[in-house]
Amino acid sequence: MSEPPHLKRTLSLFDATALAIGAIIGAGIFVISGVASGLAGPAVILSIIIAGIVSSFTAYSFVRLSSKFAEEGGPYVYAKHVVSHFAGFITGWLWLFANVVAGATVSLGLASYVVSLFPQIPIIPIAVSSVLILMTINIFGIRQSSIFNAVLVLLKLSALALFIAIGFSHLNLSFYEPFMPNGITGVLSSAALIFFAYTGFGRPATAAEEIKDPKHNIPRSIILALILSSIVYVLVGIVSVGLIPYQKLANSGSPLTDAVDYGIKIYWLKLLVSFAAIVATVSVLLTTVIGVSRVSFAMARDNLLPQFLSKMHKKFSTPYISILITGIAMAILPIFGGLRETANVTNFGSLSAYAMVNLCAVILILRERKKQRFIIAVLPLFGLISCVSLLYFLNPISWIIGFSWIGIGVLYFIIRKSYGRSRSNF
Ligand code: ALA
Repeated sequence: MSEPPHLKRTLSLFDATALAIGAIIGAGIFVISGVASGLAGPAVILSIIIAGIVSSFTAYSFVRLSSKFAEEGGPYVYAKHVVSHFAGFITGWLWLFANVVAGATVSLGLASYVVSLFPQIPIIPIAVSSVLILMTINIFGIRQSSIFNAVLVLLKLSALALFIAIGFSHLNLSFYEPFMPNGITGVLSSAALIFFAYTGFGRPATAAEEIKDPKHNIPRSIILALILSSIVYVLVGIVSVGLIPYQKLANSGSPLTDAVDYGIKIYWLKLLVSFAAIVATVSVLLTTVIGVSRVSFAMARDNLLPQFLSKMHKKFSTPYISILITGIAMAILPIFGGLRETANVTNFGSLSAYAMVNLCAVILILRERKKQRFIIAVLPLFGLISCVSLLYFLNPISWIIGFSWIGIGVLYFIIRKSYGRSRSNF
């Protein structure tokens, strides 16, 4: 049997952190925060904090697991090693699903900001072509993608910093009343939706074989990226609901530019925020293609998905068939669903896969630690409980689609196990 293919270690701590921030800050804060404000009212600020807390529990589990298993594939690899090949397969299967649908959601978010600048252009062709362009960039190599990504990350952070700084001096305090018009259910439904904005923090773990000193740099990059993004999100939440009535945010495809238009009225800032939204969604799309193609590569390398997905490009050393198929799937989906639906479906997949990651961390800690193991396992346990609780608040359509996807996965696994050959021991 030939040697399994491997990737090159080219990414530093800076690159890995930029990869995570690139994956995190995008359509969630720039677009979905508007819909989330409609559910929670000004208390969307609390929803952002709740979703951030759920994410940090899960990030803690990523940190523990990634310092032990520094292999390409992230959540798939953890469940495979800690629980079983079947659990690994289902986790990877859910994770792939979540991220392909997330890519489609983000491309729709990108397109809605382009349309806010150029209303004569139709939304779907922009969404589809943006995915295809980023797919092509990805094929040329992760090093090139990561330099491009770092530039995009710096641009989006600078623009959001300006939005926050200028926005704070234009707040209208009457917009914060009533603070919680739809009660705690509104806040929790909004938290389940805005969770979308945090997904992506585990991205360095999915590209573990391409990161230098992965056992240190992966946990550090995840923590740094999540802290920075949470601070930015809470501040953006406070500013946006203070600039414009939340009902207007709820109905907007480009809520942050509408907030500038309504509450600040500085034209260049509106243009800058639109530009930042486009930049942010481009960087999320870029890193989402990286993440999905790496997980499908890792699963194919273990023969859990067809082998051609692990084929490497001779010149660019990238899993180009995985990238091509990922990109094409993401490009097709915007034709079928709107942004709100795709965000709900994404969150079903992410929350389920993250619940598995937390479960793996609990099992690993209880299995390996002799002292204080119950204390250390508390955070991943909270992660597990909070991910499952947020699932409850998602739109029921997302459960139907999500459970159908799991059913297809189970069937596929059984067929492959019965008729396929495996490089791993599944
Ligand atoms: N967290 C990513 C975003 O908000 C998926 O676009």
